[in-house]
Amino acid sequence: MIIGTGIDLVESDRFLDWSAFKKQRIFTKKELEYADADNANAEKHLANFWAAREAFLKAIGVGFGDDIAFSDVSVIHDETGAPELLIAGGAKAYLKEKAGTNVKIHLSITDQSDYSLAMVIIEQVQ
Ligand SMILES: CC(C)(COP(=O)(O)OP(=O)(O)OC[C@H]1O[C@@H](n2cnc3c(N)ncnc32)[C@H](O)[C@@H]1OP(=O)(O)O)[C@@H](O)C(=O)NCCC(=O)NCCS
Repeated sequence: MIIGTGIDLVESDRFLDWSAFKKQRIFTKKELEYADADNANAEKHLANFWAAREAFLKAIGVGFGDDIAFSDVSVIHDETGAPELLIAGGAKAYLKEKAGTNVKIHLSITDQSDYSLAMVIIEQVQ
């Protein structure tokens, strides 16, 4: 059963003039390392990760706030480069409350010149 879907579009230059300190408040160490490893496209990757966060929040029906920290929702990659969402802390608790523990989160990301787009589908599995 599909619990929710979310989509988000982000301007790629959104994080261009952000200090390292500000980026560290939003992104995980792993995400920043991933972006930095592709230095010429670092901001594009960060925009991708931000779009993924917002798409997840839309799919689950909650916003960042007291109970959900920016780092509770982050992107990791499998060996083929495919992105996956890692859900922790308050976001994990909220997801459990809303959908239980047998949940599969589908994430797809794309980017093109000025924009990043992410789509999330939250599926309750048996
Ligand atoms: C998958 C693939 C087609 C993506 O092409 P692309 O034009 O570079 O992708 P886009 O610019 O639209 O989007 C980039 C995002 O695609 C996602 N992505 C990368 N590899 C992916 C994969 N194997 N499967 C799904 N998504 C993938 C990533 O999230 C990436 O952004 P990020 O690195 O910042 O997280 C390309 O990486 C590829 O050919 N990989 C090798 C073959 C493969 O694994 N194919 C599986 C899908 S058919």
